[in-house]
Amino acid sequence: MIMKLQPPIQPVWKQVSKNWGHPFHPMCSYMAMFPPQLPYYFIQRFSRPGDRVLDPFSGRGTTPTQACVDGRIGIANDLNPLAYILSRAKVDPPEETDVQARLAQLAAAYRDNPGSLPDTTGDIGAVFHAQTLRQLLFLKGILTNDRNDTFIKATIAGILHGKYRRSGSDSIYLSIDMPNTFSMSPAYIRRYVKEKGLVYLALDVFEKTGRRLQRLFRRGAPPTRGQAFQQDVRQLHQWVQPESIRLVVSSPPYLKVIKYGLYNWIRLWFLGVAHKEVDRTLDDAHALDAYLAFMQETIGQLERLLVPGGVCVLVIGDVAHNNQAPLNLALEVWEAVRAHSNLRLLDLVADPIADHRKVTKIWNNTRGRATATDRIMVLCKGDRPAVDQLPVQWDS
Ligand SMILES: C[S@@+](CC[C@H](N)C(=O)[O-])C[C@H]1O[C@@H](n2cnc3c(N)ncnc32)[C@H](O)[C@@H]1O
Repeated sequence: MIMKLQPPIQPVWKQVSKNWGHPFHPMCSYMAMFPPQLPYYFIQRFSRPGDRVLDPFSGRGTTPTQACVDGRIGIANDLNPLAYILSRAKVDPPEETDVQARLAQLAAAYRDNPGSLPDTTGDIGAVFHAQTLRQLLFLKGILTNDRNDTFIKATIAGILHGKYRRSGSDSIYLSIDMPNTFSMSPAYIRRYVKEKGLVYLALDVFEKTGRRLQRLFRRGAPPTRGQAFQQDVRQLHQWVQPESIRLVVSSPPYLKVIKYGLYNWIRLWFLGVAHKEVDRTLDDAHALDAYLAFMQETIGQLERLLVPGGVCVLVIGDVAHNNQAPLNLALEVWEAVRAHSNLRLLDLVADPIADHRKVTKIWNNTRGRATATDRIMVLCKGDRPAVDQLPVQWDS
């Protein structure tokens, strides 16, 4: 039985402006990302400053970043190397002056020794002008894993591809015309460029990255620093102290919905990761039974990490299933988990998603299987949350 909280949880975050939030949030688009307003509501209500707030499937890092913005300690984890870089950059950012100085140093090193112009006949050559590609190859070879370079990698991942402007100088992105949310296939790009008569522009990676850094830091860095991990969720207790987490806000992978590797092949190329390898390791391609077993293990792990009275919020979308009516996957998960868990179900809130925001809309809904309702499952370790503070204020 659901033990509803009073007052009940309602998706009030949907009434808040789309542009609300810290400038770090939109650093790089990520498929199936949720808006920062959603974790903000739960962070304000179910945690206090200084508490540890975890997202074990952090994606672009929305929950842990918002936690750091709100004076909590944001803990991120995601097995996808792209998600890890984005999350780590945001929860453990450098000083703006340090990262700009490092970028200037890289630009000078490139000027001294740019290397020869690359061959553009391969897959990646379909995306960039040869001079832009030469700069990217230089950076790819020289960037390290330290704090400054991780932030530079994440910043470049965010501007690597997107809308093209013929003038070039007012363009934010480095590629030929392409969606920012996901990578088109090389064959599709070449066809599209030919059909539209597009011209590749020599866009300067150092200059565009410097401008982007200024925008990202326009409100400074978040007041607290967090941590990021790149682990399988089922091993997290080896990295995160059990009974140390006040709040989890997360959206797990759904059911055969997104190929994070393939649809991010350009960003993964820049990070030096084979996209097929990413799709092989992530848990986003299970059939229903395997998915429910995965979620049972995941929720068992989260129960272990939560403090008594801690809250776990999971956003799970309905999915199309066997050509029947959409499956309420969140309910299926709860039915599979309840007998094995001491967590209590506090609420299961329906959150209809506007059609244009649906992940699978980009394929005109023919290839994806996510449907138009998210369910927000709110679980508690114990009878009631140890922290439940209202009202949630929406200033700033
Ligand atoms: C729905 S997305 C999360 C998006 C995130 N809420 C955001 O706002 O960006 C699910 C994430 O689960 C990650 N994932 C899949 N299997 C995993 C596993 N076994 N352990 C950790 N992360 C995993 C994927 O890489 C993906 O980023």
